[in-house]
Order: sequence, then structure tokens, then C-alpha cells
Amino acid sequence: MEPVIIVVGGAGFIGSNFIRTWLQERPGSIVSIDKRTYAAATDNLEELKDGGRHRLVHGDICDRALIGEMLRKYRPGIVVNFAAETHVDRSIHFPQEFIQANVVGAFILLDEARLYWEGLPGASKDGFRFLQVSTDEVYGSLPITEPPCDEHQATAPNSPYAASKAAADQFIRAFHRTYGVPAQIARCSNNYGPYQHPEKLIPLMILSAIREQPLPIYGDGEQIRDWLYVRDHCLALMKIIEAGRPGEVYNISARAERTNLQVVNAMCAMLDGARPRKTGAYADLITHVTDRPAHDRRYALDAGKLTQELGWRATESFESGLEKTVRWYLEHMEWVTAVADGLAYKEWQAVNYAQRRSQ
Ligand code: NAD
Ligand code: DAU
Repeated sequence: MEPVIIVVGGAGFIGSNFIRTWLQERPGSIVSIDKRTYAAATDNLEELKDGGRHRLVHGDICDRALIGEMLRKYRPGIVVNFAAETHVDRSIHFPQEFIQANVVGAFILLDEARLYWEGLPGASKDGFRFLQVSTDEVYGSLPITEPPCDEHQATAPNSPYAASKAAADQFIRAFHRTYGVPAQIARCSNNYGPYQHPEKLIPLMILSAIREQPLPIYGDGEQIRDWLYVRDHCLALMKIIEAGRPGEVYNISARAERTNLQVVNAMCAMLDGARPRKTGAYADLITHVTDRPAHDRRYALDAGKLTQELGWRATESFESGLEKTVRWYLEHMEWVTAVADGLAYKEWQAVNYAQRRSQ
């Protein structure tokens, strides 16, 4: 029988890209469970919904009875956890929601997976994999003088979001050590690509530029992120599941460090070519605003372990990935505006930006 995968958080940005990529590249069926929070506001899986090989179940990772029932019903060989509250700025305003989904929820899924895995017969038990999708933010801010960090770097989270993800990682490690659960952790850098919610930097800037609104750069805009095209991330996750070692952490990075100003200027230049303004350049809309508290200055990951052990390499450069991303948003403005015109998005804009002063 073809493997069944349970994907939790499959209706979000990376989860929905992962489901598409897996269904394109591999046989087998996928059951996704998602609470469908604001982050899955418009249906990212519309065309895959309840199709032959994919089923979306509306549910909360914290609902232990539902998670246990799904595992017993579908008997997956693989469980992948994307479910989380993911926006750093929201974690500063509403930290408790992050503990609930990212720590309590991750623990419940892991504990139910353990009980299910313990009851599997021999070969299925050996082949079972649990993958926790974590983040480079658990390592904290990396000094500009340091090389990109590998998996031995100690964790030092600085935001409530990063702390919640680091806490979940500790449970993964402990469950592997204590019970032998064949669990793995993937820590990737900043993703970009289709279906990313426009609260995040790149889609926010594309949408704001098209609407002729200010492009809000936090602080001096010299903070560095390490950008990874989402499909490359999904292919790396597949490698880790299929060939990675249980109990291990794998960093995923395309080694594309850029300052926020470089990212936004590159995006503006692409928009200048694809959809020129009536007067001026899109970069004229850049506005520096009050910085994010405890804003990490730099993330940069060394993914040498993933390349050496599993042969993964990114296929997109930052420029080619950004070009594809800008084009996708221009061709899917109805998807973006459906999110941005919703009440939840407008309320969030007021919470996050109204107090920020132009600098
Ligand atoms: P997202 O916010 O787009 O999607 C998160 C999904 O999780 C949504 O569909 C949401 O409905 C679901 N969810 C939230 N709470 C849930 C709950 N209690 N029960 C069930 N479902 C719930 O996030 P994303 O950007 O796709 O991130 C996916 C994962 O990757 C997260 O774990 C995140 O920490 C990690 N990650 C993201 C990035 C990035 O750049 N986007 C980088 C590194 C790591
Ligand atoms: O590094 C991985 C992380 O990347 C993931 O774990 C998170 O889930 C994901 O949200 C992302 O976190 P960031 O905080 O890096 O992403 P965000 O898009 O919110 O911000 C990217 C950078 O842009 C960051 O330095 C803050 C800055 N920024 C962001 C927004 C929303 C601005 O300057 N202005 C803005 O309006």
C-alpha cells in the first residue's frame, strides 16, 4: 500500500506548498489537519481539497482526541508538523496563543504519535518518521562577524515565537532520547514564494507597493535574513523524511543572506519593470518606521550537513526565486486582496502599524 502522510498545519503557506510538491513528486495519499486560523484565511488548498489523494480535516493540534483518532484511522507512516502561530510581531502582542499552538499543540501531537508508533508492528515501526518543522530563529541573532551557524549552535531565542519553537524542539529531542520515537527536526531560514500571507515581509511589500501605500521598513532595514524559496524547502523536507537519520537536526538554507532593504529594493526594481508606476519608482514608497522590539540583527544557516549527508542543494537563486514570487503575486492579486480586505487583516494592520512612527 502507498504511504499515508499526516500533515498538520497543511493549509498554511509552507504546508500547502509541501502538499503540492509531495503530490507532484511522490505516490501516496495525504491527510492534512488544520485549524484554519487567519493564516489559512483564503483556501490555499482549494484545488486539492478532498481530491483523490488529499483530504483536509478541520481540527486543532491541541485536540488530543481528534489527533489520536486521525492516527488510528489513517495509520500514517509519516507525520509532519507545520502547525504553528508563525508571525514574530503577533507573538509580541499575543504571546499566549504561541505557547498553546506551538508548545502545547506540538507536545500533544508528539505524544499521540508516540502512543500510535509504540503500537505499530515491526517494519512499520522501524520506518515511521515524525518531522517537526522548526526555524533558524531558535538560534537567535548571529553576529555579522560569525560564519553561518550549524546544528551544534546553542539555541538562544529572543522573541516569544522563537522561544515557543525552541521549546517544541526540546520535546522532540527528549521523546527521541526517552522513548526512541524516530523524530527529526528541520530548521530552515526565511521562506518566500506563492501563498505566503501578506503579513510577512515580501508579500506585504508587494501588496503595499501595488496599492501605492508606504513600504514600512523596521528601523534601519539593515537586518539580515537568509532567504529560501519555498519549493526548495519542501524538497529538502522530503529528503530528510526519506533519508535523514532519526533523532537528528538538519539546517536548511540556500545561503542567500540579504538585508531587508536589499530585499525590498530588489522587489521594487522587479515591479518597476513588470508594472511601472505612473510617476516615480516603487522604492520611493519606502518608509522607515519604529523597529520591532528585540529585533534579531542577522540569521544565517550552514546547511552543509544536509548537503553532505543527503545531497540536497537549493535550485533557486534569490533573484530567480524572487522573480517567480513577484510574478505569482501579480497574477494572483485576487488571492492577496481576499486576505487583505478581510477584517482580521485590517485589525492586525491597526494593531501592528498604527503606533509605529515614521523615522
Ligand atoms: P503559516 O502561518 O502560513 O501557517 C500555519 C498553519 O498552521 C495555518 O494553516 C494555521 O491554520 C495552522 N495552525 C495554527 N495553529 C493551529 C492549531 N492549533 N492546530 C492546527 N493548525 C494550526 O506558517 P508557515 O509560514 O507556513 O510556517 C509553517 C511552519 O514552518 C511553522 O511551524 C513555522 O514555525 C515554520 N517556519 C516558517 C518559516 C517561514 O519563513 N515562513 C521559516 C522557518 C520555519
Ligand atoms: O527566520 C525564519 C522565520 O522567518 C520564521 O520562523 C517565521 O515564522 C517567519 O515569519 C519569518 O520571521 P521573520 O520575522 O524573519 O519574518 P517577517 O516577514 O515578519 O520579517 C522579515 C524581516 O522584515 C524582519 O527583519 C522584520 C522585517 N519587517 C517585517 C515586516 C512585517 C519589516 O521591516 N517591516 C515589516 O512590516
